[in-house]
Amino acid sequence: MSILKELDSENLILSMPEEMDDDFFSKVKLEVLNAHKVNNIHRILLNFSTVRSLSSVGLSVLFSIKIFLKSIGLEVAAVNVNEGIMGVFKAVGFDQIFEKEYVAQDSVVERSYEEKAKDLSEELSYQRELYNRVTTELEKKIESTKDELKNATEQLRLYDKSNSIGELAAGVAHEFNNIIGGIMGYAQLAQMKKTDEIIDKALDNIVKLSKRVEGITSGLLNFSRKKPVKVAPINIVKMIEGVLEFTQKQLENCDIKVIAELDDVEEFLADENLLSQVILNLVINASHAMENGGELKIKLFREGGFVLCVVSDTGTGIQKKHLEKIFQPFFTTKGALGGGNKAGTGLGLSVSRSIIEIHRGTLEVESTLGKGTTFTVKIPFKSVKEEDEEARKKRKVGTGRISKNAKILIVDDEEIIRSLISATLSDKGHDLLEGSNGEDGVKLFKSHKPDLVFLDILMPRKNGLDAYLEIIEEDPSAKIVFITGQAGEYLEVVLDNIVNNDNVYLLRKPFELDELVNVVNVALGK
Ligand SMILES: Nc1ncnc2c1ncn2[C@@H]1O[C@H](COP(=O)(O)OP(=O)(O)OP(=O)(O)O)[C@@H](O)[C@H]1O
Ligand SMILES: [Mg+2]
Repeated sequence: MSILKELDSENLILSMPEEMDDDFFSKVKLEVLNAHKVNNIHRILLNFSTVRSLSSVGLSVLFSIKIFLKSIGLEVAAVNVNEGIMGVFKAVGFDQIFEKEYVAQDSVVERSYEEKAKDLSEELSYQRELYNRVTTELEKKIESTKDELKNATEQLRLYDKSNSIGELAAGVAHEFNNIIGGIMGYAQLAQMKKTDEIIDKALDNIVKLSKRVEGITSGLLNFSRKKPVKVAPINIVKMIEGVLEFTQKQLENCDIKVIAELDDVEEFLADENLLSQVILNLVINASHAMENGGELKIKLFREGGFVLCVVSDTGTGIQKKHLEKIFQPFFTTKGALGGGNKAGTGLGLSVSRSIIEIHRGTLEVESTLGKGTTFTVKIPFKSVKEEDEEARKKRKVGTGRISKNAKILIVDDEEIIRSLISATLSDKGHDLLEGSNGEDGVKLFKSHKPDLVFLDILMPRKNGLDAYLEIIEEDPSAKIVFITGQAGEYLEVVLDNIVNNDNVYLLRKPFELDELVNVVNVALGK
């Protein structure tokens, strides 16, 4: 049955029942929206012809109606033939209540003074009761709103923390500034003192600090999943043993007993570098949590189609409020960012989780405050047989013959990279040529016919890929090493395909000098 009583161009009268519930509220919404579509109504008139008082449900429905109407920009007026109920409207905040012209004639009743007085006293006690009820309700609402607000603020903070570029940039900038400060300091110290001992020490530290930068950038790239995964058969037992060996001293110093229960999991396909980064971070985190000693247990086993590595410690445990955040980048309780005395940037677990996700696995945590923490890495066991021919081809293996006296062209717009490659390779007996953009590179290739070309990808005046196309047009058997930092998703796909070609190699910046020499030997030794 429609509740719409009357509709003219501006006013909509709704007849209100004695009891109002949520269904009624839905009906009101529907009627009003429909009417609103047809006419340009400004006011809603609520016609209470029989109601003398309202239940708390009715009251709250009335309140909802008021809020709904307001939300769609409508003014509310109530039509009421029963004087007793007027106060109710006032209490729920309807200001314009009485509109005489809309009083339903048939509902007007003549009453005696006694009846009116009785009504008034009933109304008064009803008002009091209502006032109390409304106040309690309001107090409850304020409390729950406060809670909601607190939750929302917390959510927003978490959201901000994991998403805001500003946060991320601040974290990176902070770390980089520390590292650059160190590098500059040591370099200046070496310039000043110039003794062999100081220069050696400075260089050692500069290499160490630069590796930390590489760690951070590669961490960020893993985090944003932009870094290509190098999948190859790995011996995970050996890898974990390697990590434990590497951390042995640190664990001993903290009086940590290590229990390794490593099942003999056969080789499977994964990125060894990335996985060892995950295990290393878990072990170091565990050791940080057991400053005063404890037990570190690493279990490795296969379960169905998965390999599981469970790392548990008997350390401090993680506070409940921190558990959700530990996988967010730059969440840390260590270092300058986290106000702790251990070193940490808060990238470890966020990067670890994305590394495991890249492997289509999961990284989960369980922790009891004061008792300890367990991290479980679970990754699919990808059999070595699944490695396809193409992937095998990508892992090009040279003859191991060390080549000398080759003519090598380096095309890169970064002078510092050119001179680094040039100095390293001329030291190995090669002849070097340099070009600072794609156009020069192609010209130099045509005029000198080098044995090998190093090609940067992002360069002014012809990028590396276009230069490559012109070079192989000139000589289809040209040997090319692409040198690239982060080429971007599209270029990565292109590169991936090109690197499948026999004479094309990839050297990722930043690279170690050994890698540089190795790629030359592999390319020229074939
Ligand atoms: N085993 C653990 N026991 C107690 N707290 C832990 C443990 N592992 C991680 N945490 C908490 O999680 C936080 C985040 O760890 P994560 O590895 O991401 O960063 P980090 O160790 O602080 O710094 P980074 O790994 O970048 O050097 C740590 O700061 C620490 O508060
Ligand atoms: Mg860590």
